Amino acid sequence: MDRFEGYVESLTHDGRGVTKPDGKVWFIDSAIPGETVTFVKTGNRKAYGLGRVEQVLVPSPDRVVPACPYFGQCGGCSLQHLEANAQLRFKEQLLVQQMNKIGGVDVGALKSSIKGPPWGYRRKARLGVRLVPKKGGILVGFREKRNSYITNLDNCMTLDHRIARLLPSLNSLINSLSIREKVPQIEVAAGDRDIALVLRHLKAFSTRDQEVLVNYGQSNRIQCYLQPGGTDSIWCLTPTEVPMLEYGLENGKIKIQFSPTDFTQVNHRVNQLMVEAAVEELEPGGQDRILDLFCGVGNFSLPLAKRVAEVHGVENVPALVDRGMKNAKLNDISNANFEIRDLYASSLRDWDPGRVDKLLIDPPRSGAFEVATWLVPRLTPQLIVYVSCNPATLARDSRILITRSGYRLRSLRAVDMFPHTAHMEALAVFELSR
Ligand SMILES: C[S@@+](CC[C@H](N)C(=O)[O-])C[C@H]1O[C@@H](n2cnc3c(N)ncnc32)[C@H](O)[C@@H]1O
Repeated sequence: MDRFEGYVESLTHDGRGVTKPDGKVWFIDSAIPGETVTFVKTGNRKAYGLGRVEQVLVPSPDRVVPACPYFGQCGGCSLQHLEANAQLRFKEQLLVQQMNKIGGVDVGALKSSIKGPPWGYRRKARLGVRLVPKKGGILVGFREKRNSYITNLDNCMTLDHRIARLLPSLNSLINSLSIREKVPQIEVAAGDRDIALVLRHLKAFSTRDQEVLVNYGQSNRIQCYLQPGGTDSIWCLTPTEVPMLEYGLENGKIKIQFSPTDFTQVNHRVNQLMVEAAVEELEPGGQDRILDLFCGVGNFSLPLAKRVAEVHGVENVPALVDRGMKNAKLNDISNANFEIRDLYASSLRDWDPGRVDKLLIDPPRSGAFEVATWLVPRLTPQLIVYVSCNPATLARDSRILITRSGYRLRSLRAVDMFPHTAHMEALAVFELSR
């Protein structure tokens, strides 16, 4: 096996250390800037090499012993070897760098980051399931780092503890089913009170299997759903009527209901703080009409609707739009309306959403290029809050807002939605400067 020694200069966007011992660039898992490490080669491309730390010769003061025994093997986390504040510093630096390099935006000082408890924060997870007889049967867990094997997890410290406590029993549950090799995935979702499991299955469950699952659900007090096909095939196996999953915002004054496969933010505490921050930054006034793009089940729309004249939420998944309307009703909110629309479609060029005083955008990782290019110049909202889960597309879209429509970046902060992973969110505020 090839071994090398190198000084680690920086971190990549996905948390790998960068070193150039022989002039060639190497990306090293679990290496920290400022360290000298020996590493073994795990991959070799023409332009760069991949490696894994073998020994840390000169450690960084930010290095800590990873808390989880699966760290390094499990693909769920990539930064546990970095102290929590150093993780956040890394994310803040990455945000500034991307805004600078890709967006050409000088961000000045960041506002203080939004963060919550570093462990037990994940309320949603998609667990892989695989039959591996030579490893004792069914394995349940996240995928391993950089391959498609499953790490069999007995615990996960980032999962909400109500979900994590199920892990030791999930593989014996699946092992006991007649079609155990035809269950590729379990999706888990937790609300403030209830937890649901969604079992994806490629063959029909026997009557006995269904009884086993019902009993498991009852003894663990969880809702059990089955998914034989696409997301619209999901049905609830729990024989009695089950309450909707629900989370509260503003100390429970707003209730948001969702079904287990609906998009919802994974980190509840950070989401509460992020929604509060977004609402405050939009300076909602009684006369305002706000457009909430990529609105999901109404996470931002409903708190905003309580403070302004009208909110119009737009989203391309009909089930989420339907849920947004139901959530408005549930909260006695009559000034929030919702529309199904593809916000990446060229029809956006002709869409007239009416008067828009302020705009909230919370797109997927691919960003909001079409909204920034075609919609914003026509609507010219006085304030824009852009919630992003990808600093690279935020930077690209910021450049468009600033250079083509005359916006100024008023503030920017990181949102630590996914501690111990290299993923991050950011909240940017733009104001019209002309
Ligand atoms: C990051 S989520 C934000 C959801 C919501 N704002 C929240 O906080 O829960 C992005 C949302 O964009 C929606 N979406 C993805 N592609 C879209 C498209 N082409 N047009 C409109 N909405 C889309 C997704 O369904 C998802 O609800």
